[in-house]
Amino acid sequence: MKGIILAGGLGTRLRPLTKVTNKHLLPIYDQPMIYYPIQTLCNAGISDIMIVTGGNNAGDFLKLIGNGRAFGLNDVAYTYQEGEGGIADALKLCEHFANGDRIVVVLGDNILESNITEHVQAFAEQTAGCRLLLSKVNDPERFGVPELDGDRIVAIEEKPLQPKSCYAVTGVYMYDNNVFHYIKDLKPSHRGELEITDVNNAYIAAGTCQYDILEGWWTDAGQFESLYLATQLIAQQRLKESAACNASY
Ligand code: G1P
Repeated sequence: MKGIILAGGLGTRLRPLTKVTNKHLLPIYDQPMIYYPIQTLCNAGISDIMIVTGGNNAGDFLKLIGNGRAFGLNDVAYTYQEGEGGIADALKLCEHFANGDRIVVVLGDNILESNITEHVQAFAEQTAGCRLLLSKVNDPERFGVPELDGDRIVAIEEKPLQPKSCYAVTGVYMYDNNVFHYIKDLKPSHRGELEITDVNNAYIAAGTCQYDILEGWWTDAGQFESLYLATQLIAQQRLKESAACNASY
């Protein structure tokens, strides 16, 4: 299994913070944002990753992450997304890197508390298709929202005005190689982007989409409120870690 982190885009919802730098280089408490999705993949045992960047300061990712050995990675590949074509457009650039393998994709602004190893293992045991991770949220209208029927997702709506559940489809997506065929058939949405929700709906239509509900907290960090929330959640986690560390002496 290979890992992909999507860290392109112009981060317009965070201007002026993103006027001269890439959103994924901004700090979340004591680390740059991009460190968190790298750790999510590393902690799940995925050590070959590709980072898709874009916009300003693409070279800074190389300065910051280098060959990835400091994170325990085998190797890091980099590529560059021109313009603002959306998440699925960025993913399209990784077909060569995936080279037929299954992939775990993490959006560069998604931060989660839990370890995703058990979900990656469940995906490895799946014969084909995709596996999505859902999280319960108070503001589903900000996300891709699944309509659920027992253990099945009926459909996903992107930022619906009237959400059909209180879950968000998080930005951790596990795909087999069909993902690249589905992306080739996509048409740009009303916001001019190739939507990852359309890719997920193609898997749902094929009857090969499965899901798990994430334990622990999850947030994106793409807006001022969620950037602030992510910083608070990590700060609390660090406090807990240092309390646990002190208690063990
Ligand atoms: C994107 C996806 C959305 C998903 C979210 C998770 O939204 O389009 O379906 O729920 O990431 O962070 P965006 O950040 O582009 O608004």
